[in-house]
Amino acid sequence: MPSTNIPSTSAAIAPELAAAAAAVAPTTRERQGSFGGSTRVKVLKPFNTANIKILLLENVNETAVSAMRAQGYQVETHAKALAEDVLIEKIRDVHCVGIRSKTKLTKKVLDAAEKLGVIGCFCINQVDLEVAAQKGIAVFNSPFSNSRSVAELVIAEIVLLSRQLGDRNSEMHQGIWSKVSANCFEIRGKTLGIVGYGHIGSQLSVLAESMGMRVFFHDVVPLMPLGTSKQVNSLDELLEMSDFVTLHVPETEDTKNMIGEHELNRMKQGSFLINASRGTIVQIPALAKALRSGHLGGAAVDVFPKEPAANGKFFESELVGCPNTLLTPHIGGSTEEAQSMIGVEVSQALIKFINNGTSIGAVNFPEVDLRAIRDEENSIRLCYTHMNVPGVLLRITNILAEHNVDKQFSDSKGKIAYLMADISDVTPEQIQEIYQRVSETPTNIVTRVLY
Ligand SMILES: NC(=O)c1ccc[n+]([C@@H]2O[C@H](COP(=O)([O-])OP(=O)(O)OC[C@H]3O[C@@H](n4cnc5c(N)ncnc54)[C@H](O)[C@@H]3O)[C@@H](O)[C@H]2O)c1
Repeated sequence: MPSTNIPSTSAAIAPELAAAAAAVAPTTRERQGSFGGSTRVKVLKPFNTANIKILLLENVNETAVSAMRAQGYQVETHAKALAEDVLIEKIRDVHCVGIRSKTKLTKKVLDAAEKLGVIGCFCINQVDLEVAAQKGIAVFNSPFSNSRSVAELVIAEIVLLSRQLGDRNSEMHQGIWSKVSANCFEIRGKTLGIVGYGHIGSQLSVLAESMGMRVFFHDVVPLMPLGTSKQVNSLDELLEMSDFVTLHVPETEDTKNMIGEHELNRMKQGSFLINASRGTIVQIPALAKALRSGHLGGAAVDVFPKEPAANGKFFESELVGCPNTLLTPHIGGSTEEAQSMIGVEVSQALIKFINNGTSIGAVNFPEVDLRAIRDEENSIRLCYTHMNVPGVLLRITNILAEHNVDKQFSDSKGKIAYLMADISDVTPEQIQEIYQRVSETPTNIVTRVLY
């Protein structure tokens, strides 16, 4: 078992620890206590931030690069994905890796990573999450940084569909002048039905209302509507009343094939369907049939059950050639703003995990956080990733029994559990002993001590 992924005070001997503790003193900051008094909050750091090695691949956004450099980490960046053998060599020595869509972190690659503690996915998730968790490696992404970009695309599509702009545009590119107004509409006063009122659905609701649309939504949970939108009781009810139906649900067992022939038949004659959620939500043959028969007035589809892995002439679908049908290559969230926001959000999660042990938002890992440690000398934070088996907490309690545990929290996810404990009034020798005993427990995956 690796005793520690990201360097911690525990790796150091006592005199170094004392020196390092003195060095971090200026990084404390004032924080207003809940009762008005000001408390000195200790900014936790691993033993020496300059020892932390970060590998950022595939042109990860500059916002992330500069945030990580500002921490004093050693940051190595690459504009492209690395060939697997090069990646295996590079990943061996790093504590954190950031990837976008082209790098696959398979078991083979992760097995080579001797010090890796955390992974940032700045685009789609291409990590063997289970293997990563078993090695005590937390994986973070940023699923909601592009909500606004998707919502804006959908607004554009509502207008484009309503004016048949996709067809007019392709006719013009073929030299065909076809000036029509039949079945072209303003969107003002039309009804938008949103399926899934989460980050994207609710954002879209506000934008659509500001353009004069009436907004209704269906969600599996009762939600506070924004603006004057209203929740309806069933999907069928929403389908029957809407001029535009737009899908914003996650991919789950319940949402797979959610929109098929039955649901499309429920939709109004001449209405429009938009899917920028997941490709498996809509049954494509049924949609193609509804479009070709003229039952639907058009559709915009950004996501597909099978999507090409690379750019090029690889796209095939029954929707190709359907009337008034906008097809886009999964670009709903692909904007410069979203990339920049993702860079900020993912890098903050990585920094918090490295410096503070916080795993909130991790996709493969128990989510644990503790309120800030007070700026007291000799306070430490123990971060213990371990196997989720009976008896572990008793063993840890016995190790910590003689110390002052200010606060602790533990959570589990599948076979992995994670405990964070803040301990005060400990000498460097005691810290070394705590680290030694905890990291030698048979259930240890990774032990870190932060100060
Ligand atoms: N096209 C793109 O590029 C792009 C970009 C970002 C997100 N997405 C996709 O958009 C979808 C929505 O994303 P989000 O961030 O708004 O998610 P979210 O988790 O914030 O919201 C999803 C909502 O759907 C609801 N829901 C779940 N199951 C449902 C069901 N069976 N019926 C009705 N409602 C249901 C949930 O209660 C929740 O309110 C996801 O599938 C996501 O993968 C696509």
